Amino acid sequence: MKATTPPKTYRVKSFGCQMNVYDGERMAELLAERGIAPAPDGEEADLVVLNTCHIREKAAEKVYSDIGRLAKADGTKPMIAVAGCVAQAEGEEIVARAPAVSMVVGPQAYHRLPAMIDRAVMGERATDTDMPPNTKFDVLPRRRKSAPAAFLTIQEGCDKFCTYCVVPYTRGAEISRPFADLAEEARKLVEAGAREITLLGQNVSAWSGEDDKGHAIGLAGLVRHLARIDGLARIRYTTSHPADMDDALIAAHGEIDKLMPYLHLPVQSGSDRVLKAMNRSHTAESYLRLLERFRAARPDLALSGDFIVGFPGETEAEFEETLRIVDAVGYAQAFSFKYSPRPGTPAATMEGQVARDVMDDRLQRLQAALNRDQLAFNERSVGRTCEVLVERKGKHEGQWLGKSPWLQSVWFDGAPGDDTRLGDLVGVELVQAGPNSLRGMVRETVDA
Ligand code: SAH
Ligand code: SF4
Ligand code: F3S
Repeated sequence: MKATTPPKTYRVKSFGCQMNVYDGERMAELLAERGIAPAPDGEEADLVVLNTCHIREKAAEKVYSDIGRLAKADGTKPMIAVAGCVAQAEGEEIVARAPAVSMVVGPQAYHRLPAMIDRAVMGERATDTDMPPNTKFDVLPRRRKSAPAAFLTIQEGCDKFCTYCVVPYTRGAEISRPFADLAEEARKLVEAGAREITLLGQNVSAWSGEDDKGHAIGLAGLVRHLARIDGLARIRYTTSHPADMDDALIAAHGEIDKLMPYLHLPVQSGSDRVLKAMNRSHTAESYLRLLERFRAARPDLALSGDFIVGFPGETEAEFEETLRIVDAVGYAQAFSFKYSPRPGTPAATMEGQVARDVMDDRLQRLQAALNRDQLAFNERSVGRTCEVLVERKGKHEGQWLGKSPWLQSVWFDGAPGDDTRLGDLVGVELVQAGPNSLRGMVRETVDA
C-alpha cells in the first residue's frame, strides 16, 4: 500500500441488522469527531466503510462486489475499510483476496478505527478482530444527533448457538451493557431529538443489570426506568428469544404506555423436530402459549416473526407445520428466508440439505401466507385513530411518513406549507390499507 493523504470525507454503508446499523452510526460519529466530514450526496468519499453482514451467503458475498466497484486501478482513492460481521468472520481472507482494502475491523473493535486510519495513511494495512468485552462503549463519543426513531444497543453477542447461525461467532459472547450507561445514552439521544428508542440485542430479552439503587432488573425493569425520561414517547425492543421472556416483560406490555404494542418473536419453524435440530429450545406449542399470554396482557399487540425454510432434513410435512403456525398466529409482519449454510456452523454439515428449487417453492408459499396476513392486519386497522411518529417527508409535496404504534408505515397529507412535522407525534385516523403501508388523515384526538 502507498502512503496517502488523510481522508477528509467518509461514507459508511451498513448492510446488516439493526445492530449493524447502530454500529454504522457510531462509526460515523467517531469519524466526525476526528474532523472527517460525511461525503455530500452523490460525491465520492475519501474513506468508505463497508459495514457488512454475514448472516446469509448472499449478504456476505456482497462485500467483494462492492470492493471491486470501489477499487481504483492506481490503488489510491477511496481508502476502504471493511467492518461488521464479515470482517470478523473472514478478516484474513479479505486481506488476501482484496488488496484494495486498507482496514478490516470487527464489530467489537471499531472504536480503534481512528488509529487504523492513521496507519493506513502511512501505507500500512491493519486488521483488528479482537473482542474486548464492553470496551468500545466506554470510548465512543457521546451521542449528539438523532433521528426521531433511534436505536440503542443494550446487549452484545449471543450465547444461544442456534445450529444455523453465525452470530455467536461474529459478535461473540452475550454481554449486557450496564444500566447507568444505557440511561445516560438514552437521555442523550432524547436531548438530540429522539422521540422513540428501540432497544437492541440479538437476544434482548436476556438483558440483565442493576438499577441505580442496586436492585437486580431485567428488560422489563430497564423499560420501566427509561419510560420515565421526559420527551421520550415510545420504547420498542428487538430481537427476543422465546426462551427468555419472563412474566415481568409480559406484564410490562399491559402496564407501560410508552412500550409500543409490537412484539418481534422469531419462531423459525413450526416443526418440533426441526426446532430441536436448530437447537431452539422451544416447541411450536410452547411458542403459541407464550404468545397467548402476551396477547392477554395487551390485546392489540402486533406480532412479528422470522422463519427459515429448507433447514437440512425439512420434509414437506414439516414445512406444512410452519404454515400451520402462521395460520394460528396471524402475524402483522414477518421476515422469511431460505436456509443458507454458513461455514463453521453445525447445520452446514448436517445430512439432508434441501434442494434449491424445493426451498424456492416453500419460500413462495410461506410468503404468500405471510403477505395475506399482513394485509389482513392492515385492513383490520382501518378506522382506528392513533399517533404516528413522523420520520420523514413523503414522495409528494406536503406528504409525511411515519410509524403507527404497531410499526406500520403510515403516510398522510400535512397542511399546505407546513414544514415542521418531523419528529412530531401526529394523531391520524387510518383510512386506507395496502400490503405495506396505510393512509392516514390528521385528527384532533386519538384512541391509541
Ligand atoms: N437473534 C435474532 C436474530 C438473528 S438473525 C433471533 O434469534 O431471532 C435474523 C434472522 O435471520 C433469524 O431469526 C433467522 O430467521 C435468519 N437466519 C439466521 N441464520 C440464517 C441462515 N443460516 N440461513 C437463513 N436464515 C438465517
Ligand atoms: Fe442466531 Fe439463535 Fe443467537 Fe438469534 S438466538 S442470534 S438465531 S444463535
Ligand atoms: Fe448480520 Fe452480524 Fe447482524 S451477521 S444480522 S450484521 S449481527
